[in-house]
Amino acid sequence: MPRLLHVVGARPNFMKMAPILRAPSPQPVEHVIVHTGQHYDAAMSDAFFRDLALPAPDVNLGVGSGSHAAQTGRMLIDLEPVFDRYAPDWIVVYGDVNSTLAAALVGQKKGMKVAHVEAGVRSFDRTMPEEVNRVLTDQLAELCLTPGAAADRNLRREGIPDERIRTVGNVMVDTLLALRPSAAKLGVPAQMGVASGDYAVATFHRAGNVDDAVTLAALLAGLAHVARVMPVLFLVHPRTRQRIKDFGLEEKAPGVRLLNPVGYLETVGLVERAALVVTDSGGLQVETTILGVPCLTARPNTEWTETIESGTNRLVAPTLEAITAAFAEVRAQKRAQVAPPRPPLWDGRTAERILALLV
Ligand code: UD1
Repeated sequence: MPRLLHVVGARPNFMKMAPILRAPSPQPVEHVIVHTGQHYDAAMSDAFFRDLALPAPDVNLGVGSGSHAAQTGRMLIDLEPVFDRYAPDWIVVYGDVNSTLAAALVGQKKGMKVAHVEAGVRSFDRTMPEEVNRVLTDQLAELCLTPGAAADRNLRREGIPDERIRTVGNVMVDTLLALRPSAAKLGVPAQMGVASGDYAVATFHRAGNVDDAVTLAALLAGLAHVARVMPVLFLVHPRTRQRIKDFGLEEKAPGVRLLNPVGYLETVGLVERAALVVTDSGGLQVETTILGVPCLTARPNTEWTETIESGTNRLVAPTLEAITAAFAEVRAQKRAQVAPPRPPLWDGRTAERILALLV
């Protein structure tokens, strides 16, 4: 039986792996789950395993937080004996986090086959750690599984030959479409005391936004501006919570509800009924596009160009002025009654196509 060894470590990896464990496979397949432990808080990891009904990892390396060098280095050392022990037919890595690059590097150097899910996605901003992880992982992977034509072009431009590129679609959409009904049933907006269609959801965690006091203060001021018009539920990543404390910015977001991160189902349940999302997350840009919710992305660039073309997502500078202006524009626009057309292959069947290639 072919053995697939999945390496995951951080919140956005879990929802990308979930549909592959469940998709119909052309023949029986054995899945081994290796969690690096990059994310370890209940809200960042356990909640996702629960919501996505994922089996417990076969191995948890418990690597934890640290500088990029320390974290990635520990993963390199600890993954090697695991790959030896399981001798998988494929090592499957997801997205762009440090765990992704570490696993691809160890696997490729051991002569094992590595498949990269969400290959070819580029922001062209090498100051982002995620961009470095993406570029290097694609160079290493035997098989680059891409979400669409734009990613294919990026890979060809970087000299990746066609035989290593397969267009499979966006696996995050599989998870969203499968779990959207269960998320809606939870009635999360009511539980949180907000009225459907009349609140904003915010998340920020990128180093470029939250590690700089001036930028983080401006983002909080932007949210405070939105909170004068509608409730703002800010789901605060642990890194962001720490920075708010470090920089003494606790009082800089009057009216904004600073909440702990919530699980996958609660997030989708909240986002689906929101009037607006303000974020720097890659996943939320994709999810708001599928759900037809206006999204302001506080970044100078995005790797998800399809979400801009669909009209749901727009980039805003991380300043009070830019957020205020963009918020006014979103308010003035009549909200489309139907979600925008989905990009090709963002259809909920990506995991099936991936398994057909790997098994
Ligand atoms: C990582 C990914 C990013 C992804 C994000 C999703 C990289 C380079 N970045 O960023 O692409 O969008 O995950 O959340 O891999 N922390 C906790 N508890 C946890 C995890 C983190 O308190 O369970 C705190 C620690 O202080 C840690 C900090 O958050 O130092 C940053 O965690 P880290 O995994 O290094 O990166 P993220 O910012 O989460």
